[in-house]
Amino acid sequence: MRVGIIGLGNLGMAVANLIASNGHAVIGWEYNRAVADEINQQHTNTKFLPDIQIHSKVSATTDLAAVFQDCPVIFVALPSVFIKRTLQPVQAQVKPEVVLVNMAKGIDGETGLTAFQTLTGLFPHNRAIMLSGPSIANELARQMPTVVVIAGQSKTDLLLVARLLDNDYFRTRFSDDEIGVELGGILKNIYAIGLGLFDGKQITSINFRAVYLTIAMEEITNIGVAMGAKIETFLYLSGIGDLLATSLSAHSHNRRMGELLAQGLSLPQVEKEMGVTPEGYNTLKSMLYIAEKLHVAMPLAKGLWDVIYGRYSAEKFISSFIRDFVE
Ligand SMILES: NC(=O)c1ccc[n+]([C@@H]2O[C@H](COP(=O)([O-])OP(=O)(O)OC[C@H]3O[C@@H](n4cnc5c(N)ncnc54)[C@H](O)[C@@H]3O)[C@@H](O)[C@H]2O)c1
Repeated sequence: MRVGIIGLGNLGMAVANLIASNGHAVIGWEYNRAVADEINQQHTNTKFLPDIQIHSKVSATTDLAAVFQDCPVIFVALPSVFIKRTLQPVQAQVKPEVVLVNMAKGIDGETGLTAFQTLTGLFPHNRAIMLSGPSIANELARQMPTVVVIAGQSKTDLLLVARLLDNDYFRTRFSDDEIGVELGGILKNIYAIGLGLFDGKQITSINFRAVYLTIAMEEITNIGVAMGAKIETFLYLSGIGDLLATSLSAHSHNRRMGELLAQGLSLPQVEKEMGVTPEGYNTLKSMLYIAEKLHVAMPLAKGLWDVIYGRYSAEKFISSFIRDFVE
C-alpha cells in the first residue's frame, strides 16, 4: 500500500521512515522544495532530521495533489497553524474513502480550533484518526521503543493504521476518545513551557518538578473533561505519558521556549531564535479563553502567562505556587 504524509518535518519524516521500513512505499508532501529535493536525491533531510538515513521507499513532492491521488491512508504532520491553509486547496479532490490520521498537536490561533477539529471540518466525509502519545520524533527516528495511542470510531480503520505502524520498536494502542487523546497532546505543551521557564532559572529540584507535573496533570484533566474528554484518557499514554516525555525531553520546542524566556529574551526574540513559535504558546492563549467560557479555573496556566509577559517573576511565581496551589 502507498501511504501519504503531509509535512516531512521532524515528526513526518520519522513516521515516513518507520512506515517505509515496515515495507510500504511512502510519498510525502513537503512545503520546502530544497528539503524535498534532498530527500529524493540524497536520502537525507538535514533540516528536520539530521544524521538519519532516509529509507529508499520514501519519496518527496511539493505537489499536494500527487499525495491525495492514490494513497488510502494519509498522515498529517504539519504544525496546526498550517493545516487549514495547506489543505483547503485540495478539499474537493480528496476521495471520501481516504482515512486521515492527524499527528499535529496544537490549536490554530486564528480559528481557536484544535488540529483534529480543523482536519475533520475540512474533510467532513472522511474517517479520521487521532494519533498521540509520548513520541519524540528524534527518538522514534533512532528506533527507540515508542508506544502511542490511536483514537477513532472504526476498529477496522484503527487496525489498518496499526498495521502500517506496528513493529518491534513501535506499537499502537486503541482508544475511542479522539478529543481526550488530542487534548492530552495539546495541553501538555503549555506545561512544558512552564517547566522550561523554571529550568532556565536553574530551579531544577526534583521535589518541585514532581509537584509541578502533578498539579499540571490535575489542570489538564479538569479542562479536558470540561471539553468532553474521558477522565481515564489522561491517566494513560496520551495524557500523563506525553506530559512526562515532553516536559523532560531536551528536544522539546516548548520546553526550550520557556528556557529562552527565562533567560530574558522577549517573545519576538524567542521566535527569531527558534525559527518557529512552539505550539504551546497559541495553546496557552486559546485555552485561557476557553477555560473562562467553561468556568474552569486554570491558575497554573494563568500564572505561566503572567510570567511570559513579565507581570510575575519566575521565582515569585514558584513561591506563590507552592504556597497557594498545592492543597
Ligand atoms: N517533533 C516531534 O517530536 C513531535 C512529536 C509529536 C507530535 N508533533 C506534532 O507534529 C506537528 C509537526 O511538528 P514537527 O516537530 O514535525 O515540526 P517541524 O517544524 O519539524 O516541521 C514543520 C513542517 O511544516 C512545514 N512548513 C513550514 N512552513 C510551512 C508553511 N508556511 N506552510 C505549510 N507547511 C509549512 C515544514 O516544511 C515541515 O514539513 C506539530 O503539531 C507537533 O506538535 C511533533
